[in-house]
Amino acid sequence: MPTKKKNRGTQAKKKTTSSPKSKRPSQRAEQEGTDIINLILKDHTPLKKLIKVMKDSDKEFSERHAAFEEFCPLLITHAKAEELVLYTHLKKDSEMRTEALEGDVEHQLADQMVEEAQRTNDEDLWSAKVKVLAELVEHHIKEEEGELLPEFKKDSDKKVREDLGEEFLRMKENINENGTEKNPSLLPEDVDEETVARH
Ligand SMILES: [Fe+2]
Ligand SMILES: [Fe+2]
Repeated sequence: MPTKKKNRGTQAKKKTTSSPKSKRPSQRAEQEGTDIINLILKDHTPLKKLIKVMKDSDKEFSERHAAFEEFCPLLITHAKAEELVLYTHLKKDSEMRTEALEGDVEHQLADQMVEEAQRTNDEDLWSAKVKVLAELVEHHIKEEEGELLPEFKKDSDKKVREDLGEEFLRMKENINENGTEKNPSLLPEDVDEETVARH
């Protein structure tokens, strides 16, 4: 059990250290492509694996807890960058605005549930909260992959998606380095009131 704890920090850091800071987004674009859709799908892969463990009542508490600890920082970084880059972009499009706003609300709910689970000492209550959180995010990811991203892909140019992808990578680096608390650089120029209220 304790060995799992050891891995957590390194796993969370791997994401940031695997792309050297000296490598600018434009360089990465040449190497692996920065289409924001691909970057989002890539982020979803480890989240989905961890969700499976978190919602599996047959797994030991320690295993589900280790998965949750690994899941939280990955989710927060991904969701915040997604809101500030992709959702902000989609909210300008009348056809995608509603879906993007719903995405924001689901992210907010997930944030609240993460905080609640982190404050819970009772093991059974923690398990219930984490299971509901896992199912919420699983459903959210399913909708993103099945509806929002394919619709966005149909209506957008590759160049736009690549520019957004570079911004998404920069935003994730910023969040990993500086966190989300009182980080004014996380506010986009045309941020709307609800989003400002949350910072
Ligand atoms: Fe996502
Ligand atoms: Fe999302």
